[in-house]
Amino acid sequence: MSNATVGLIGYGYWGPNLLRNFMELPTADVTWVCDPLQDRLDKAVTRYPSIRPTTDVRDVLDDPDVDAVVIATPISTHHALVMEALLAGKHVFVEKPMAMTVEECDEMCDAAAARDLTLMIGHTFVYSPPVRAVKSILESGELGDVRFITCSRVNLGLHRKDVSVVWDLAPHDLSILAYWLGETPLSVQAMGRSCISNGIPDVAFLNVRYSSGIIAELEVSWLSPVKLRRTVIVGSKKMLMYDDTESVEKVKVFDHGVDYKDPETFGEFHLSYRTGGIYSPRVESVEPLYAEATHFVDCVTNGTKPMTDGLSGRLVVAALEAAQKSLDGDALHPAERRGRVEQTGPPAS
Ligand SMILES: NC(=O)c1ccc[n+]([C@@H]2O[C@H](COP(=O)([O-])OP(=O)(O)OC[C@H]3O[C@@H](n4cnc5c(N)ncnc54)[C@H](O)[C@@H]3O)[C@@H](O)[C@H]2O)c1
Repeated sequence: MSNATVGLIGYGYWGPNLLRNFMELPTADVTWVCDPLQDRLDKAVTRYPSIRPTTDVRDVLDDPDVDAVVIATPISTHHALVMEALLAGKHVFVEKPMAMTVEECDEMCDAAAARDLTLMIGHTFVYSPPVRAVKSILESGELGDVRFITCSRVNLGLHRKDVSVVWDLAPHDLSILAYWLGETPLSVQAMGRSCISNGIPDVAFLNVRYSSGIIAELEVSWLSPVKLRRTVIVGSKKMLMYDDTESVEKVKVFDHGVDYKDPETFGEFHLSYRTGGIYSPRVESVEPLYAEATHFVDCVTNGTKPMTDGLSGRLVVAALEAAQKSLDGDALHPAERRGRVEQTGPPAS
């Protein structure tokens, strides 16, 4: 079978990582890189002299030899670029988040389905070996019923000018949770603050509730003295911690818990605290982006459905939209604010 021919659109911060991985694939040939900025193209050509640079996306889309495009541009451009690529008959990989609205996602899914083209979303962590190891542990039932999950994704990060930290970082955790739990959020509430740039929250806390009863709290921030990529899952039998900043032992399973014993007579119930063993499963050391690129090319070549297809992208965007709505409605009406102060103030004499 011949290699898939791929064009990369967007060569900013993330594009070079995608290009490096697609270039390493034995099953793909990257022939084009497109970016409106010439200095970015110069960097790509210096690194990979065989690649053809262009500032015009039509050069890539009009090339009949190109089978697929990989899009790593700002979020606000995703919908238009993906639609243009699908209409040109190209398979598409687009970075997270898929688009700015659920309506845009639906249009993209419909356009791909109507043309029988692959549409895959860059939910990179779903391809990460520790995240997949956690999925196996959850499926084995070892943790029991999942009660709640907390996720911290914070560091002194690059402040984006186009979107808030919610749209930048929360897609990672929302896509991981969707993959692990296999269910969509019932509700999302968010609270955030713009500490540096006015109107662009750089810290936010999302509370997500699922119909199974599981609740999750996501902390995302570009303002933190330390880098945390830590998720804790508390189950009815055991607990688990996934820490992506660890070089080894990224996943740890704790035989910890609290057991409730009903009173035998009409007395007090008993709680027994269990702090048993801790183990760390062996996890493969494959770069998630390489696994993701391999999967995309497999899907294009064999016509199989991507693990992170348009619907999974839509699910994440729906949760982000709900979080945004909650953020926008965060401010109390002035009258309500006054009422709250009065309620907590000293009693009127
Ligand atoms: N999966 C991950 O872990 C991960 C990590 C970082 C970023 N991302 C995603 O990658 C995407 C890009 O992020 P970034 O950090 O590289 O942004 P960036 O702003 O650094 O780079 C975007 C690039 O796209 C170019 N561009 C803009 N409009 C274009 C157009 N119409 N056609 C071609 N090129 C265009 C810009 O000139 C720029 O070079 C975002 O969706 C982001 O969420 C994903």
